[in-house]
Amino acid sequence: MDKENQSLTNAEETSYDNLETNSIRPKSFYDFIGQKNIKSKLKVYIESAKKQDVSLDHILFYGPPGLGKTTLAQIIANELGVAIKSVSAPVIERQGDLASILTTLGEKDILFIDEIHRLRAVVEEVLYSAMEDFFVDIKVGEGTSAKSFRVKLPRFTLIGATTRSGLLSKPLYDRFGIVERLEFYTEEDLASIVKRSSAFLNIKITDSASVSIASRSRGTPRIANRLLRRVFDFATVSNVIKIDEDFACDSMEKLGVDKNGFEALDKQYLNAIIKHYNGGPVGIDTISVSLSEQIETIEDIIEPYLIQCGFIKRTPKGRVATNKAFSYLNVSKRYDDNYKDGSLFVDL
Ligand SMILES: Nc1ncnc2c1ncn2[C@@H]1O[C@H](COP(=O)(O)OP(=O)(O)O)[C@@H](O)[C@H]1O
Ligand SMILES: [Mg+2]
Repeated sequence: MDKENQSLTNAEETSYDNLETNSIRPKSFYDFIGQKNIKSKLKVYIESAKKQDVSLDHILFYGPPGLGKTTLAQIIANELGVAIKSVSAPVIERQGDLASILTTLGEKDILFIDEIHRLRAVVEEVLYSAMEDFFVDIKVGEGTSAKSFRVKLPRFTLIGATTRSGLLSKPLYDRFGIVERLEFYTEEDLASIVKRSSAFLNIKITDSASVSIASRSRGTPRIANRLLRRVFDFATVSNVIKIDEDFACDSMEKLGVDKNGFEALDKQYLNAIIKHYNGGPVGIDTISVSLSEQIETIEDIIEPYLIQCGFIKRTPKGRVATNKAFSYLNVSKRYDDNYKDGSLFVDL
């Protein structure tokens, strides 16, 4: 098993999502908790498109995994009353693969491309004309006998999702009329999500237990739902009928999820920077080698929440641990001239 799958943050991502698809994944804006700002804007765009009887403009959602990008794409399709076709970018290998997906779309339908930053350049080229002028040029044959003919497409909406908007090429990025960044959720919103999910899953839980799960969920609904399920496993085995705060906290400690929501990998990451590199600055490549983790996993899964909590900063010279991180690990902070005024703590 590769390392990525050992962490609770990532574990069962795919199978869990599949399980969820038909149950607790919100199907309307009403059920979609939090992200008020994005929701209210999307509602306007949808109503406007409906009133004008035109297709919705192309949308790009970006932000860390598990915050609701896929869910929002499905809700938009439901609200518009159109079909949605979902595909993950790495699966589209050739131009023809994309062309055949595009030609099966109906008028105003949604094409959802997940991990859109991983589209191959040749495939991406096909999207340019499709998004802008709703046609694709399909090539048939090889070499001098090759012919190209143009196929008109219905006016569809592309919804792209990515954890890294910075990796999108400019021509692709510029073709999205709507670009929205999803933010980490507040504890209050996550507690509501836990409550809602527990009702769906028939799990009895007190309000304070919901809050304690929320507070260890790293601002992420997917993790909140996953922790709820794992705590429920403990409750089932112990014949506990209703989960209370003590039981929830005790179970999460056993799962290796601490009060901050940090797991083994987060602690290894902080240890590496603080104990091996004296708090940094240290480059991502070095951290990746010392943790034997892919850079992408570190940048997508571990760092965003640690930055959000103020435990680390990204600086031009590398990652730097803050005082908060030092006290978390009970290590006294180094004070040398370069760092004591915090001048290196420049957000990128
Ligand atoms: N705003 C929300 N309200 C309730 N549940 C949510 C919300 N956002 C996400 N979820 C839950 O979290 C899970 C992960 O969301 P998903 O849309 O797959 O995230 P992403 O595509 O950004 O990785 C979903 O299956 C859904 O049940
Ligand atoms: Mg997704």
